[in-house]
Amino acid sequence: MAAASLGCRPWGSLLGLLGLVSAAAAAAAWDLTSLHCHFGAFCECDFQPDFEGLECDLAQHLAGQHLAKALVVKALKAFVQDPAPTKPLVLSLHGWTGTGKSYISSLLAHYLFRGGLHSPHVHHFSPVIHFPHASHLERYKKELKSWVQGNLTACSRSLFLFDEMDKLAPGLMEVLRPFLGSSWVVFGTNYRKAIFIFISNTGGEQINQVVLEAWRSRRDREEIRLQELELVISQAVLDNPHHGFWRSGIMEEHLLDVLVPFLPLQRHHVRHCVLNELAQLGLEPREEVIQAVLDSTTFFPEKEQLFSSNGCKTVASRIAFFL
Ligand SMILES: *[C@@H]1O[C@H](CO)[C@@H](O)[C@H](O)[C@H]1NC(C)=O
Repeated sequence: MAAASLGCRPWGSLLGLLGLVSAAAAAAAWDLTSLHCHFGAFCECDFQPDFEGLECDLAQHLAGQHLAKALVVKALKAFVQDPAPTKPLVLSLHGWTGTGKSYISSLLAHYLFRGGLHSPHVHHFSPVIHFPHASHLERYKKELKSWVQGNLTACSRSLFLFDEMDKLAPGLMEVLRPFLGSSWVVFGTNYRKAIFIFISNTGGEQINQVVLEAWRSRRDREEIRLQELELVISQAVLDNPHHGFWRSGIMEEHLLDVLVPFLPLQRHHVRHCVLNELAQLGLEPREEVIQAVLDSTTFFPEKEQLFSSNGCKTVASRIAFFL
C-alpha cells in the first residue's frame, strides 16, 4: 500500500479525530458568519461536496472496508445530487471498535463542508459530553429537539453525528424520529436535506462472526455482501436495550436509509493503518516500528488470531510510543 504516502488531503492524522470533540465548541464561534443563511431560499451554507477528494481519501486510507466505502459514497452521491430529496439521509454505522466508523464520519464532514468538522453546520453529539446523566432525560430531550430544529432552520444542509449510540439514555432518540422521515416541513425550511449519521458498536460481534465464517470457508472477504449482514445487524440493534434506537420507532418505521457494516480488521489492515499514520506524520515507513506496533496488537479469536481486538484505534498512540 505504497499509495498511502501520496495523500489526498493536507490535514491532520488519525489524532485529528480528537478534533471531533472540540468541534462543537468551535461551531459556536462561527454562528455569526452563517446568519445570512437564514434568508436565502436556496442557501446551502458552507456545504461544498468534493466527492473526488472523498473517494480518493477513502481508497487510500480506509483499510479493509469495501462495503462501507461503496455504500456511503453511493448513498451520499444520490442524495446530494437530488435537488429535492423526499427525506433526510440517515446512515447508521455498525462495527467493532477501531474499524473506521468515526474516521469515515470525519472524512464526510471534511469533504462535504468547507469548514469540515469545524463547520457551524456539522453537529457532533457524544453521550458522555452532551447527555451524561440519565436522570436529566427530559431536559436532554427538549434541548436536542430545539438544537436540531434551530440548526436546521439556520441551514437545511446540516450534518448531525451521533456517537456511541449504544451508550445513550434510552428514550432520547424518540425526539429525532419526526426529523428523520419525509413529512417534517416547518416554515418552508427543507428539513429533508439534512444528513444524520449514527455510530455504534452494536452488531459488531455479529459482523465479526460472518467475516470469520467467510474466512474459514476460504471465501474472499470482498465477496461479503450487505445482504448477508443487514439482517443480523438490525436484529442486534432491535435486541439491544442500550442502543438509542431501542423502542424509538426509528427502526420499525424504516427511517434508516443505509445500515453500514464495518468489518473486523486483520493484520495486513493494521499494517496499512500504521503506514498511513507514518505518512501523515511525514515519516518514512520503518519496518521495526511497523513490526513493534503489530507485535503489541492483540488478535482474536484465540485459536485463529485473525482480527485486531481494537482495530486500528490505538495505532496512532502506539506509533508515538515506538518512534
Ligand atoms: C445547534 O446545535 C448546537 C449543538 O451542536 C447548539 O449548541 C446550538 O445552540 C444549536 N443552534 C441552534 C440555533 O439551535
